[in-house]
Amino acid sequence: MQNGVERVLISKEDVQKRVKELAAEINKEYAGKKLTLVCILTGAIVFAVDLMRELTMEVEVDFMKASSYGSSTCSSGGVQIFQDLKTNINGKHVLVVDDIYDTGFTLSRVKTILEDRNPASLKIAACLSKPERRIVDMKIDYIGFEIPDVFIIGYGLDYSGKYRNLPDVCVLAESEYK
Ligand code: IMP
Ligand code: MG
Repeated sequence: MQNGVERVLISKEDVQKRVKELAAEINKEYAGKKLTLVCILTGAIVFAVDLMRELTMEVEVDFMKASSYGSSTCSSGGVQIFQDLKTNINGKHVLVVDDIYDTGFTLSRVKTILEDRNPASLKIAACLSKPERRIVDMKIDYIGFEIPDVFIIGYGLDYSGKYRNLPDVCVLAESEYK
């Protein structure tokens, strides 16, 4: 096991299988339409890339950098937008793609900001969800996996900027932050 990893929670094979299932649902929902994917930087990059390669409609991609975490394992509640979209989403079908729906601060803030810009539709996909940590409840249209309240690294998710490149969804070893 790599340093920093306590255990693999979801293997890359299981993630890939689930991503294909989500993509099939999205392909059905948006058949014949154009879709604008809004990837929330930085954690969602791996999920967004895997997901978009399975999509069959016309797709454009843009990025928004939002963060509700510093470099610790605790949400601060305040969400900062560090980088905004380049695309005008007015009248477009938008699917926000994020790594994890945790407290919900980030996605609810992003949703409010994007809804103000009058997209034709706005839906949300999150690779992971931690129901036990929820503070802001909202509808997430596509969820990959519900997971327990453990700190995750890998598949795009980091701890202090590290471990995003691990192919599996892993649990961070306690020795890293204690
Ligand atoms: P929320 O605003 O609390 O829902 O947190 C959302 C953001 O916090 C996610 O997009 C992640 O970037 C980060 N985050 C939440 N939980 C974890 C975790 O277990 N590992 C790594 N990052 C996390
Ligand atoms: Mg994030």
